[in-house]
Amino acid sequence: MLVAGNWKMHTDIDAARALARDVVDSVGDPGDVTVVVCPPFVSLSAVAAEIAGTPVGLGAQNMHAQDAGAFTGEVSAPMLTSAGCRYVILGHSERRQFFGETDEGVCAKIGQAHAHGLVPIVCVGETLEERKAGKAEEVVGRQLAHSLRGAAPGSPDRLAIAYEPVWAIGTGETATPDQAQEMHAFIRVRLNEQFGPQTARALHILYGGSVKPGNAAELFGQTDVDGGLIGGASLKGEDFAAIARAG
Ligand code: PGA
Repeated sequence: MLVAGNWKMHTDIDAARALARDVVDSVGDPGDVTVVVCPPFVSLSAVAAEIAGTPVGLGAQNMHAQDAGAFTGEVSAPMLTSAGCRYVILGHSERRQFFGETDEGVCAKIGQAHAHGLVPIVCVGETLEERKAGKAEEVVGRQLAHSLRGAAPGSPDRLAIAYEPVWAIGTGETATPDQAQEMHAFIRVRLNEQFGPQTARALHILYGGSVKPGNAAELFGQTDVDGGLIGGASLKGEDFAAIARAG
């Protein structure tokens, strides 16, 4: 199980430090669950210092596909590793929707993450219109095919997929456990085709979209749901810890 908190554009440095401390205290010993927090870039170092020596890991919310260069406003993989990151969220639907992120761009970033020892958490998911039109699997299948082209994680703990139906993100509306399981099983089949059964079985497929302490256990109880990518509920240590405990 992998449970990652996506803090999005919340918390200044002091608030990030305090939230990180709250998460560490609330989570305690997470047992078999890998717990990760993904604060905004400017707080990565402060959070890294706060969680040092604890079971909580660090991730970023995005990165550029090149090591360095004239790319104003961007942050590279070597910068993230030097800040203490092991994980990076790639292709989040908000990046796709508001910042023009494409599957091809995500693909380049996955290669770059792997080249620098980062574990990409690759987000896929359909919009409400696409689901209503019966195209959810087609959309997710295409996102997977294009963004994972050429991906070589090496071992299954070096890649995670997050299925996040766009209509469930920040809306309070969650996919039903059946809907989540159905899509996760589909994703597993695609991963099997690309990486073979052993890797596909072991890769973490996370569900994201309005996961809360009250619905986490049922979602995580599905055969192919291996954890969650948590937005809103990751901003309170106790709620995030309760979700991690459901893993
Ligand atoms: P949410 O966000 O939990 O607030 O719906 C999830 C995400 O965007 O990763």
